[in-house]
Amino acid sequence: MIRFTNVSKSYDSDIVLKDISLSIEKGEFAFLTGPSGVGKTTLLKLVYCAERPDEGEIVVAGWDLKKIKPGTIPFLRRNVGIVFQDFRLLMNKTVFDNVALALRIHDMHPQEIKQYVGDVLKEVKLKHKENIFPQHLSGGEQQRVVIARAMVAKPTVLLADEPTGNLDAETSGAIMKLFRGINAKGTTVLIATHNDSLFHGMGRRVFYLKDARIEKERIE
Ligand SMILES: Nc1ncnc2c1ncn2[C@@H]1O[C@H](COP(=O)(O)OP(=O)(O)OP(=O)(O)O)[C@@H](O)[C@H]1O
Ligand SMILES: [Mg+2]
Repeated sequence: MIRFTNVSKSYDSDIVLKDISLSIEKGEFAFLTGPSGVGKTTLLKLVYCAERPDEGEIVVAGWDLKKIKPGTIPFLRRNVGIVFQDFRLLMNKTVFDNVALALRIHDMHPQEIKQYVGDVLKEVKLKHKENIFPQHLSGGEQQRVVIARAMVAKPTVLLADEPTGNLDAETSGAIMKLFRGINAKGTTVLIATHNDSLFHGMGRRVFYLKDARIEKERIE
């Protein structure tokens, strides 16, 4: 579902990723870890085409990103849901509208949008807060809105960047349960985190980034 072959990426003269090869299968639930600044977010950005590699090949959900045309990128992004490290919720829009926005850009019928958004808000247990503005939600609730927004277009791949950032252990556990549920329905999930308690004992593949390379890959 996601395949990197000898991928390298630099910002100016700083080499962030060097000769990265990895493959994440359809339906897999995998983790990407390593210390702050190692390149986790950069690797995810390469997957959804927010950054381009300097070298190497990337294939995501059947698209060869080297050959993808700018007009096709929105279709790629419909298949790739993203939970951003910095949330990126629109503070002047309600919970409902933040989630619906991901569908409105796809020209969906308003009735269908209402159905999709309602379903996904129920799943993250925030249906009763659909008319609230994000600043009136707790951090854990805001994160659930971000996850709902990433899920609503029913992506085949879900990327999550430090999805439990500032949350307490109990709330983090609830967020991880949501991801497991999404994965159980067939979505391929890749989570980037420096927090090893998220993947310890999960029995999932973990890619360790160090010094611009994948230092090791193992089941945790
Ligand atoms: N747009 C950019 N321009 C220049 N340098 C960048 C840019 N984005 C990231 N970097 C640099 O690339 C390196 C990797 O950053 P990245 O955000 O991928 O790390 P990370 O592993 O996600 O860190 P964190 O755990 O703190 O989120 C850092 O040294 C960072 O300063
Ligand atoms: Mg990051």
